[in-house]
Amino acid sequence: MRIAEFEEIDQMGQKAFSIVMDEIEHNPQLLLCAATGSSPLPLYRNLAEEAKKRAAVFDELRVLPLDEWVGLPSSDGSCHAFLQKHILRPLKVDQERYFRFNAAAEDLKEECLRIQALVKVQGPIDLCILGLGKNGHLGFNEPADELQPHCHIADLAVQSQQHSMILDSSIKPTQGITLGIQDILSSKRILLLVSGSGKEEAKKKLLSGDITSQFPASLLWKHHNVDCLVVTKKS
Ligand code: GLP
Repeated sequence: MRIAEFEEIDQMGQKAFSIVMDEIEHNPQLLLCAATGSSPLPLYRNLAEEAKKRAAVFDELRVLPLDEWVGLPSSDGSCHAFLQKHILRPLKVDQERYFRFNAAAEDLKEECLRIQALVKVQGPIDLCILGLGKNGHLGFNEPADELQPHCHIADLAVQSQQHSMILDSSIKPTQGITLGIQDILSSKRILLLVSGSGKEEAKKKLLSGDITSQFPASLLWKHHNVDCLVVTKKS
């Protein structure tokens, strides 16, 4: 794991941007798996700025969500709404190149199977953007004795239910739909972005290098191509 520390989140965003652009320049059809949350926001802002200058660079980019809240209308703090606002609209990613998770599907198990098949056809993920949960989760792969390899419905840890994305939402999701740990680790390259308050303990655990399913992000130590960008300043 390559670890780089930054004082400010915008500096982290700039570095993440240069990594993502480098990958897109080499592979315009890149399959980008995109986390939501506050850590990747400066990266997405930089990409949106770039799209204003060089829209064609993103003409073939494909986008796969990392996860989605179950039970939220798509307008109300959902990952879909977030991705639409920060990536899909600014980068003009059309419907054929975006693989939305339908967390309102009647049969969520079926939906997971559909996503799994889709990952197989479209994959492997070329570049996976991740954030770090305060409890060490990746996507909604919560700490557990055993982690799920593929797309599944996860019961959210209490800490995850308090994420800032859904704080203002009238509906409080208790479940999420998420790519599994093997799906994530099968990505060719991973970019883990770590920022935000209340993450001191999580940062320490991650950087200790101990690998345990009780701290899912530690599994990233098993991958050969991970950049972990960390903001050091407390917010
Ligand atoms: C949420 C999301 C994750 C995200 C993580 C970190 O739980 N489901 O995909 O990466 O939190 O978010 P933040 O960067 O806002 O701390």
